[in-house]
Amino acid sequence: MSSTPRSAAEVFEKIPTQVFESSAQAARHLAQEVGALIAQRAAEGRKLVLGLATGSTPVPFYRELIRLHREQGLSFANVVSFNLDEYYGLSADHPESYARFMADQLFDHLDIPSAQIHIPSGTVSADQVFAHCRDYEERIEAAGGIDLQILGIGRTGHIGFNEPGSSRDSLTRRITLDRVTRQDAAADFRGEENVPRFAITMGVGTILRGRRLVLMAWGDNKAAVVARAVEGPVSDAVSASFLQEHSQASFFIDRGAARDLTRFRLPWLVGPVAWSPRETRRAVCWLAGELRKPVLKLTDEDYNEHGLGDLLSEQGPAYELNIRIFNQLQHTITGWPGGKPNEDDTYRPERAKPYPKRVLVLSPEPQDAVVSLGGTLERLVQQGHQVTLVTLTSGSLRVPDSAASKFAGILAELAQGDAAKPWAAAKSYAHEALDALAKKGEFGEDSAQLRQLKGLVMRGEQRDAALGCGLANACVQFLDLPFYEEGRYRRFKPGPADSAKLTALLRSVEPHQVYATGDAADPSSVAGIAMRLLVEALRECAGDAWVDACSLWWYRGREKALQAHEVDMAVPLSPMQLERKIRALGRYGALNSLELGVAEVNRQLAGDYDALGLAQYEAIEAFARGKL
Ligand code: F6R
Repeated sequence: MSSTPRSAAEVFEKIPTQVFESSAQAARHLAQEVGALIAQRAAEGRKLVLGLATGSTPVPFYRELIRLHREQGLSFANVVSFNLDEYYGLSADHPESYARFMADQLFDHLDIPSAQIHIPSGTVSADQVFAHCRDYEERIEAAGGIDLQILGIGRTGHIGFNEPGSSRDSLTRRITLDRVTRQDAAADFRGEENVPRFAITMGVGTILRGRRLVLMAWGDNKAAVVARAVEGPVSDAVSASFLQEHSQASFFIDRGAARDLTRFRLPWLVGPVAWSPRETRRAVCWLAGELRKPVLKLTDEDYNEHGLGDLLSEQGPAYELNIRIFNQLQHTITGWPGGKPNEDDTYRPERAKPYPKRVLVLSPEPQDAVVSLGGTLERLVQQGHQVTLVTLTSGSLRVPDSAASKFAGILAELAQGDAAKPWAAAKSYAHEALDALAKKGEFGEDSAQLRQLKGLVMRGEQRDAALGCGLANACVQFLDLPFYEEGRYRRFKPGPADSAKLTALLRSVEPHQVYATGDAADPSSVAGIAMRLLVEALRECAGDAWVDACSLWWYRGREKALQAHEVDMAVPLSPMQLERKIRALGRYGALNSLELGVAEVNRQLAGDYDALGLAQYEAIEAFARGKL
C-alpha cells in the first residue's frame, strides 16, 4: 500500500497525487526525474529502462525530453524503452500505429539506438501472438525490469489497454478494446468503425512490476475516472486502481483532471475552507443534492450534520444563507443571453447595453458550438444581435472517406457525358479525388486535395446546422487554423500563425460578447489548443478600446458539463427549441456519442435546477463567466 497521505486534505487519496497548474509544468517535473535517473544509472554503469505510453497525455512530456536533449544535451544512448501497447492489425508504418507515433513524437528526435526500442508488433500472425507476448515479457526481464513506467489513463480506467476485467496478474497479451476506448479513438481514425478492435498490451501485472510508476492525466474528461482510481476501491473495473497496491506509484495531474477528487469537490470534508462565494454555492448545492431538498428547505441541522457547521457559523443562519444562494442561482437564469434591452440589468448575467451586441461565437471544431449552445445561438439571433459564428478549424480530419466519396461522385456524375469545356476541370478534380480515395485504402493518409474536399464537406454541414439555429450563411466564417491543417489529432503543434489569425479576427469583429470553450479541456485537444490561442490573442489585444466593453462566456463542449454551482448564465430551452437544436445537430455527418448525448446533458441541468427549487424547464444551456 502507498504511504500515508501527505496532508489531511488528501486523506481520501490512496495514491500520492500531485496536482500541477498545467500539463507543461508536470511534464517539466517528470522530465527532470528522468534526467536524474539517466544520470544515476550512468553512474552505476547501467542502462535506464523506461516504459512508455502513447496517446495525447505524454506528448507534452515527450516534447520536454526532446527539448532537454537538444538544449541541454541530455543523452538517451543509455536508455532502453518498452512501449505499453500497439493496435493489433496496424503495421508499424500505419499513420495511427503506436510505432509511428513514437517515432514521430519522440524517438526520431533523440539519440536512442533503435535496437534499444521495443514496441509490441501489431502484425504478428494470430498463431504467433502468444509467443510474441511471452517474448516481450522475457525481453523486459532480460533488460533488468522497467525502472520508470509512464502511464496515461483511458476513460474506462485502463492503463495500457487493460480494459475493465483485466486481472491484477495479467501479462502481455492480445485484448479486445472497450467500446468507450474505440469511441475515444474515433476521431483519429475518421470514424469509430475504422478503429481496430484488438490490441496487444502489457498486462496489469507487467506494469505493476515496474519499480516506479507515474500516471499522468489532463483535462476534466478524465476527472471522474481519476477520482475512481485514486479514491475508489481496488478493482478490476478500473485497472488504474491497482496502482494503489504499488509503493512507488504517483499520479501527476492538472486541475481539470483533479476536479472530482474529494479535496476539490467537497473540500469541507477534509479541512478548513475559505468560503468564497463560489465555494459557498458549491457547498449549498451539494447539501441540497445530498438531502434531495430544495435549497430553501435546508435547516441549520442539515448544515451542522453534514460537515458544514463552519459555513453556517460564518454565514448562517440557514434561512439567510439559503435565500442568498437561491437568489444567486435564480439570477443566473435568463432567456436573454445577449442582455435584455431597456431593462434593469442589476441582477442579470449580461448587461443590457450596448444593444444590439456584436457577438462572436468561437467553435474550435465545427460541431462544438451547435452542440453546446445551439439554443442560445437561436435566441441571440432572434433577439437582434449581430452574431458571427467562427469555426476555428476545418474539421476535415473527422470527415469519413464515404462523405468525400459521395461529393466527388456527385461532381463526377454531373460532369459526365458533357464534353463542354467548363466541366473539364470539375471532372478531373472529381476523378482525382476518387482515385486518391481508392489508392489510399482504408487507413492511408489523405492527400491535400482530399483534406480540402473534406473541409468543404464540413463547411456545408456547418452552414446547414447554423441555419437550423437561425443563423444565415453570411454570419458563418471559417478560420482554418494552420495547426489543424498541418497536424493530426493528439499531436498538433500550434504556432504564432494561429494566434495571429485569431488576433486579426478579434480586431476585425471587436465583439461585445465572446463565447468560447476549452478552459477545462485536455490541453492537447483542439478545444484546449483553441482556448490557449484565444488567451494569447486576447493578451495581444489588451489595451484595445473594445476589450473593456467585451464579456467572455465559457461553454463546455465534449468535456464534463458545468454543474449548477459553476453556472453564471443559464439559458433555458423550451421543448421546441431543444427539438430544433437536436435537428440542427442532425446536419453533421459524424458526431460522437458524447455529442449525440447533449440533449440529455441539457435536460439534466434543468432537472438539477428544478431539484434545487428553481423553475422547471425542459433543458438548460450553461455558461461560466470568463475574465478578459
Ligand atoms: C497508450 C495507452 C493508453 C492511454 C490512454 C489515454 O499507450 O497505454 O492507456 O494512455 O488511453 O489516452 P490519451 O492520452 O490519448 O487520453
